[in-house]
Amino acid sequence: MSVITDAAEVSKAASGAEGHEKSQLLAHTTVPLPTAPPAPQIFCHKERRRLIRNLNFNAKIWMQYATVYCLRGINIGELAARPKSSERDRKDAQEIMAAMADWEADACSAKFCDQQGTPILAYFARRAKSNACVFPKAQDKQAPLYRPSPLAPSKAGAFGPFLSQLGRSERDISTAEEAGIEVQYDGIPSEILEKALWATQALHHSLHPHKVERDGRHDQSDFLMQYQKGPDATPQVVVQDFVLDNTVYVLSNDRIASERCGVSHLVHCWPEQGQKRAAAFHPSRDMIRTATSHQAVEWYFQHTVELAIALDAMFKVSFPDDYEVYEKAFKAGRWVQADPGPWLGRAIVWKLQVLPHRDGLDAGPTAIFNLGRYEGGEAYFTDLKLKFKYGPGDVIIFLSGDLYHGIGEWKPLQGLDSNNITPGRVGNVFFSPAKSVEFLKDREQGWFKSTMGGQLPKRL
Ligand SMILES: [Fe+2]
Repeated sequence: MSVITDAAEVSKAASGAEGHEKSQLLAHTTVPLPTAPPAPQIFCHKERRRLIRNLNFNAKIWMQYATVYCLRGINIGELAARPKSSERDRKDAQEIMAAMADWEADACSAKFCDQQGTPILAYFARRAKSNACVFPKAQDKQAPLYRPSPLAPSKAGAFGPFLSQLGRSERDISTAEEAGIEVQYDGIPSEILEKALWATQALHHSLHPHKVERDGRHDQSDFLMQYQKGPDATPQVVVQDFVLDNTVYVLSNDRIASERCGVSHLVHCWPEQGQKRAAAFHPSRDMIRTATSHQAVEWYFQHTVELAIALDAMFKVSFPDDYEVYEKAFKAGRWVQADPGPWLGRAIVWKLQVLPHRDGLDAGPTAIFNLGRYEGGEAYFTDLKLKFKYGPGDVIIFLSGDLYHGIGEWKPLQGLDSNNITPGRVGNVFFSPAKSVEFLKDREQGWFKSTMGGQLPKRL
C-alpha cells in the first residue's frame, strides 16, 4: 500500500471518507483544549464601563485621523444590484484576485467611499501619527482619490524617509517607526485578541468544526489543516492515519499533525431555510447542536464580551446609521444574554481557505477579523481592486452582501504555542441576516425570547 503525507492529498481524501474511517479520522483530528488560560481579569461593572469608554475613544480617534478615500468609478448601488449567485461574476472575481496576487498590500487604517461619497468599507489597522497625508475631516473637503494599482500603497518613486502620498504599505509603516514616528494601532488590542483566540479554540474543542456541502465560499476538499510540529514536540510513537482505496493517508506522525476545518454559525435569530411558507425564526443549529456544545457556546459568548465591545465601538463610528438599526434588531432578537451585540450572528471560519464571494444573507455592514498564527491571508476586494494586509486583529467593516471579497492563500506557522494553541487562521464574521433585521424591526427589547420567536404569547 502506498503511504501519503501530502497535506492537499490527505485533506481531499478525508473529505470523501465515510463510515468508520470518517469517525476515526475525525476523532484523530479534534481541536485540542488549550491549557493555561490568559490571566483572569476582574471584569466588574466599573471595569466594563471603563473598557467601553476607552474603546469608544480609540474608535473616535480612528474616525478623526484615518484617511478617507474616494474610489472613482465605483457606485455601490450598481454593485449591489447585481444578481448574487452569478457564476460568471464569481469567476471574474477569482481571475481578478489571481491578477492581484503580486500587488503590494495596503497596511494602513482608512475609510473608503464610492464616487457619490457613500461609505462602503472601513479598515482598522496601523496608522502613523504624523502621516502627512492624513485627511483632516472628510466633511470639510472632498476625499482624495485612491487609484488602485500594483504599487498603490507605496506609489513607486515617491517613497522616502517619510511617508509618500500613498505611503501605506507595511514597509512604509516600518520606515516611519524607524524614523521615530509614533505608530498607532486601531485594530483589536492584543490582550483582547489573545483571550478571544483561547476562547474560540476552547469552543471548537466541543463544537467540532464541520463543513456544509452547499457552501461556495470554501473548497470542499479543504477538510483538514496540516501543520508542522515544532522542534520541541513530544515524539509520537503511534502514527495516526486512515485507509482509502488501498492507500494509507497519514494524519499525524513525528513531524506533522492535522486538525479538522469548518464553519460554525452562532446566530441568535436565524430564518429557517428552504421553507415555502413564511419563514420561522430560531437560534441557528450550531447554538444548540448538543448539550455539551450548547454549554460551550454560552461560555464562549461570556468570554468574548471584550471582543464584542471593541467591534461595537468600531461599528458605531464607521456606519452610524446602520448601527442604530442593527442595535435595535439585536436587542429584540438576542438569544444568549451574555452577547452584548449589536450583530445578530457570528460565523467562525476555523482554519479554512476562503474563495471570493458575496454573502447571500447579510443585511448591511459586516465586521471581519482573524485570529491565529499564519502567514499570507491578505484580504482582496476585487470590485474595488483593493488588497489589505489584514493581519490578526485588523478589522474590516464593509458591505459584505454587495462586494466580492476573498482571502489570499495562507499557511499555518510551525508548532503549538505554550498554551496548546494550534497554528492556522481563524476567520471571524460578525453579521446580521437581512431577513432577521426586517423581522425584528419595530419589536421591543427581549421580544424574540419572550414570545418563542413570535409563536407564543408574551404573557398568559
Ligand atoms: Fe463573506
